[in-house]
Amino acid sequence: MSLSHKNKFGMFIHWGPYAITGLQEQALARYSIPYDEYESMAMQFNPVDFDPEKWVLLAKKAGMKYICFTTKHHDGFCMWDTKETDYNIMNTPYGKDTLKMLAEACQKHGMLLSLYYSNPDWHYKYGYNPECPTHQWKAKYKDIVDTQKLRDFIKAQVTELLTNYGSIYTFFWDIPPCIEDPSLNELVRELQPDIYINDRGWSEGDFSTPEREYESAESKRYTRMTEACNSVGQQSWGYRIGEDFYTKRHLCCAIDRFMAQGASYLLNVGPDAKGVITTEYEQNLMKVADWYNRMEGCLECAEPDPTDYGIRHNKYIANIKNGKTYLHFYEGLISDSVAIKNYPNEPRSVRLMNSGESLKFDITFLPEFFNMSKSTQDKLLHIYGIDADQFADEPIVIEIEW
Ligand code: GLC
Repeated sequence: MSLSHKNKFGMFIHWGPYAITGLQEQALARYSIPYDEYESMAMQFNPVDFDPEKWVLLAKKAGMKYICFTTKHHDGFCMWDTKETDYNIMNTPYGKDTLKMLAEACQKHGMLLSLYYSNPDWHYKYGYNPECPTHQWKAKYKDIVDTQKLRDFIKAQVTELLTNYGSIYTFFWDIPPCIEDPSLNELVRELQPDIYINDRGWSEGDFSTPEREYESAESKRYTRMTEACNSVGQQSWGYRIGEDFYTKRHLCCAIDRFMAQGASYLLNVGPDAKGVITTEYEQNLMKVADWYNRMEGCLECAEPDPTDYGIRHNKYIANIKNGKTYLHFYEGLISDSVAIKNYPNEPRSVRLMNSGESLKFDITFLPEFFNMSKSTQDKLLHIYGIDADQFADEPIVIEIEW
């Protein structure tokens, strides 16, 4: 079963010492914090309230099947017990392997674990990659270039990550390095033969990664495995004090649309410096999860429904699962009814997934489509009395059993 079908909903977690700043995961660069200041702050990282089981249980409650964790972001700070650099969690007052703790909690609760790893590394001596036009702005040693050393360093770190933390579901490289070197993905696959690798690494990988509002104007079926991602907050992936949170409608509509087209979805939260997913972040996550859980998994393992139902006015994507059709009105409905011109037969039942209740329907003529010939072919399947206003902040999903 592929990534794009099962285990579609995942929790992205951006967490590292940047949480102390309460600014952004790239605070070092974007707020021009001096290196010394940032690095000594990072070495004081002490997330005393980190309780990975809480994170895992929250992800479960949200209907999520996997967690993708930032092992190392662009700042170069490592959240695991790495032998490749001292710039890691073991050398802070906290002194415990946060990745190991998370991996154990995931294992205990049947949560899959994925790893995020940044190619840009602003701390490592040979971290500067002149081939890459982006996210290199804060490399500490811009005059020292040795991309072979950089690759060797990354390989050694990847070996630790994919050897010491059990089975890993997906590998999320960040920032394409613009150097083609298939040996890195080969290593990843050799260490974890069942892993899925994203497309931001050193060769093509298995799945693509549209991010934030990217592609939101386009409607298409994904032919390639795809995992879209966004954060609950608009300005940052890491913890940000006073974050600007997306509306429920924006996130739910995007998730419904991406998933109905075949993609998986990673929704991100940024725990704070103590290791807590704060109430604010949790509430913003759960307002989306509340909708997602009411979908009863209809977005997982669904296949495209090739029928053109001839529905006017409302944008929709049709899928089939277990013989039932699911119409995803990913921007909601413009009225309290849907008229279907091309229906195979009278349905056995019609249900509004948002509320779980049965919907009324009839096979009838409608004035808007009225044809004077009054032939029975002109009758429509008319689903009516839909309380769309009650769900104005959600995509509307209708289940039809033919
Ligand atoms: C972008 C951001 C980075 C974040 C990533 C998540 O690359 O620059 O900070 O980690 O998106 O996909």
